[in-house]
Amino acid sequence: MTYSRITGTGSYLPENVLTNKDLEKIVDTSDQWIQERTGIKKRHIAVDGQATSDLAEVASKNAMEAAGRTADDIDLIVVATTTPDKIFPSTACLLQRRLGIHGCAAFDVQAVCTGFVYAMGVADQFIRNGTARCALVVGAETISRLLDWNDRSTCVLFGDGAGAVILESSDEPGILSTHLHADGAYEDLLHVPGGLGNGLEDLAVEMRGNEVFRMAVNTLGRIVDETLDANGMQKSDVDWLVPHQANIRIIQATARKLGMDMDHVVVTVDEHGNTSAASVPLALDTAVRDGRIQRGETLLLEAFGGGFTWGSVLLKY
Ligand code: COA
Repeated sequence: MTYSRITGTGSYLPENVLTNKDLEKIVDTSDQWIQERTGIKKRHIAVDGQATSDLAEVASKNAMEAAGRTADDIDLIVVATTTPDKIFPSTACLLQRRLGIHGCAAFDVQAVCTGFVYAMGVADQFIRNGTARCALVVGAETISRLLDWNDRSTCVLFGDGAGAVILESSDEPGILSTHLHADGAYEDLLHVPGGLGNGLEDLAVEMRGNEVFRMAVNTLGRIVDETLDANGMQKSDVDWLVPHQANIRIIQATARKLGMDMDHVVVTVDEHGNTSAASVPLALDTAVRDGRIQRGETLLLEAFGGGFTWGSVLLKY
């Protein structure tokens, strides 16, 4: 049996930092409110001229180095992003060129905050059916470009960043299962109204935060059950929860659902806020590099985002 296995991880956060205190000068908010309601202390914001592909390039190089792989080895590139550099070419193609890779399939996946989980699900299919052997899977965003800096209910929540993994075919597990879902009925609860269909004026995130919060908690609870049931596993079989980093209270609710101590939950939301598709690989890379996540351990990656979209990846690291 062929599995896809993570052989290297990488990430990158732009150097420019915006703290909660900085935000106090921009909108009517406070460091205390942001920390208590979200767990966020700061976020990293791409500077002018720094695009999603710039962040993706550094994260990808870090992941390739960790895996001991070069440009010649990569035979698939999947980039999860909602904030592409251009309408086209895809950010995956722009990244491919930067990395000096030629000829392999390269495309973007757009599932907002669930993007990286979707990208892993897609790359896993390519590897398990033998179409690819060494995939670069990236989540990268400059979501700050889609914020209304006068709207305190959204601008304090998000930040920019990128994370990447190298996924290779292996006889050893590997990704055990992926579960991807969407329901477009909830478009109005979390969206950016502008686009080529509606005109490019209204390009800022609009969110009904309270309703999104409730949906996220309930839906992520369900995906935990679905994932464990599909694998015949118990909650106690999971060593690490690597959740989407949107809000510490949503993360805590999922951990409670798993009966998991917060010591086994990777939390990085305090450091970078909600980086959309970048958040899961950023958290994963952090806990791999600091030595918390060890080879052979079982990881549950999960995310929820605009669409709504939601999903999970259960894997042996
Ligand atoms: N600073 C200070 N006060 C703020 C604020 C801010 N940045 N943003 C909102 N408030 C105020 C509101 O205006 C409201 O005031 P009111 O009671 O006078 O009307 C009060 O705080 C409570 O607002 P509410 O929206 O009920 O707070 P909340 O506890 O639901 O927290 C979120 C708000 C956005 C943090 C929370 O709803 C959330 O995290 N939602 C999910 C967001 C998310 O994860 N989205 C992405 C999914 S991928």
